[in-house]
Formats: sequence, structure tokens, C-alpha cells
Amino acid sequence: MYSAKVMDHFANPRNVGEIENADGIGEVGNPKCGDIMKMFLKIEGNRITDVKFKTFGCGAAIATSSIATEMIKGKSIDDALKLTNKAVVEALDGLPPVKLHCSVLAEQAVKAALADYYRRQGVDPEPIVGKLEEDCHACSCEV
Ligand code: FES
Repeated sequence: MYSAKVMDHFANPRNVGEIENADGIGEVGNPKCGDIMKMFLKIEGNRITDVKFKTFGCGAAIATSSIATEMIKGKSIDDALKLTNKAVVEALDGLPPVKLHCSVLAEQAVKAALADYYRRQGVDPEPIVGKLEEDCHACSCEV
């Protein structure tokens, strides 16, 4: 049911934890299944120099947040903003259809953390990051 990559990131998640004095923190949740994802960013100049996450959720949510951190670490803010849940799923060699919404949570967590970063700079994040969904409408989580 799950690819080897999903199993690997679930069993050995990368970049787990918190960043003290993070420059941006994003927390998103899916009210239907109750999964919560928290993302911490360290940003220097225009670059994401460190990223950590904490996920209270299903295996797919852990795997997607883990790979999402790898995909944005060391990247520019612009590149991180382009991260889509589709790219996350592809990087994991796919997810079962009922688990696709978990990857949406990963994309949203990165965006929420970047929005928080801009807010702390006194910049309105919405024109840059876009409007964040309050909850997951992109899926039908039936857990
Ligand atoms: Fe994985 Fe909903 S986020 S079950």
C-alpha cells in the first residue's frame, strides 16, 4: 500500500523537533482526522537555513512533513512557496488516494510558517503566500 520511500520517512523521519527562536512557525490541522502539523523555519536573507517539524498524526502525515522539510531546506523562500502537495507526493513515489490529503497538510504547514515569517516582518503575507485554508477542504479525510 505504501511505497518504500513513505515507509522510510515514516520510520526515520528527517528534521524532527523544534527550532528555538524560529523565524517562522506554522501550525495546521485537519479537523476531520485531528492530525496536527507544526513547522519551524530559520531564515537568513532569502534562504531557509533550517527547518524542523512536529507532527501529531498518521504515518502519511509524518512522511509528507519529513520529505517536505528536506525539499525546502537550503532553498530560497520563493522555491519553498512553490512547493505543492503534488510534488511532495511525487517525491514519496506516490500515496494511496485516501492519504493524499495528508500531503496537503505538509504544503499548508510550510505556507503557514512562511506567512508567520512575513507577519513578524510587518508584511502582509496574503499577497505573497496566498490565502491559507483554515481546514482541509482539498480532501475527504475519513479516519
Ligand atoms: Fe493523515 Fe488526515 S492527515 S489521516
